[in-house]
Amino acid sequence: MSIILSAKELCKTYTVNKYSNDVLKNVDFSMEEGEFVSVMGPSGSGKSTLLYTVSGMDKMTSGEVCFSGRNMSTMNKKELSRLRLLEMGFIFQQMYMMKRLCIADNIILPGYQSGADRAAVAKKAEELMERLGISDVAHHEINEVSGGQLQRACLCRALINDPKLIFADEPTGALNSRAAADVMKELSAVNKNGTSVMMVTHSAKVAAYSDRVIYLVDGGIQGELSLGKYEGSDLSGRERILSGWLMEQGW
Ligand SMILES: Nc1ncnc2c1ncn2[C@@H]1O[C@H](COP(=O)(O)OP(=O)(O)O)[C@@H](O)[C@H]1O
Ligand SMILES: [Mg+2]
Repeated sequence: MSIILSAKELCKTYTVNKYSNDVLKNVDFSMEEGEFVSVMGPSGSGKSTLLYTVSGMDKMTSGEVCFSGRNMSTMNKKELSRLRLLEMGFIFQQMYMMKRLCIADNIILPGYQSGADRAAVAKKAEELMERLGISDVAHHEINEVSGGQLQRACLCRALINDPKLIFADEPTGALNSRAAADVMKELSAVNKNGTSVMMVTHSAKVAAYSDRVIYLVDGGIQGELSLGKYEGSDLSGRERILSGWLMEQGW
């Protein structure tokens, strides 16, 4: 198995009004190609910051991050945004969708930006929307669809350029449990097709879909738990194991 993402002695310090806050403290982390890793931990422990720095959205203060064999620490802004566009997908709780574009156009946009053939991108978008059950709202405005539909649209958009890795920050945080389960089933299916996933979540039910869970406390990894790949059965058993472990971690 090869490593898709690794961080070595990763540090991130935010400085606001001369007061500096060491948010990530020498984090060592790696994930294998095809792995599905969840990041859990108390609010403010640095989960989102970890996701943003390893994906190159936010600048690291020190340390080294490698993606698919390439050192991101030495890439400039342009190289990083190209890498994100072509090889990474992003899903956030506050969904950064363009309000002026319909669902389908939002999904298509990063495909066009990649320079891929337009007809092929449009066809791919259609297939993705079909697969995720949102074809009927393809031409709806962003505010004319349900939270679950919008989050599935975000997943389509994240998939349009066939990323190697999807970063998700609380992708189900704003959804009811039914819609959350739908989104997680899709994300899990995407992962089974070979796309790696790194996801922040507050929910043991949601994290139960992942292969491995890391627990962040005060900017450092306090522990990790391997669950093995979810094969479509006994999700509640996995959730029970995870919940027990989370209690030991001080959850
Ligand atoms: N852009 C920023 N500027 C300054 N401080 C920030 C910024 N983003 C996050 N922080 C601080 O970093 C810490 C960790 O935040 P975050 O990574 O969002 O935590 P989590 O996702 O685990 O809740 C918090 O103390 C937060 O206030
Ligand atoms: Mg967060």
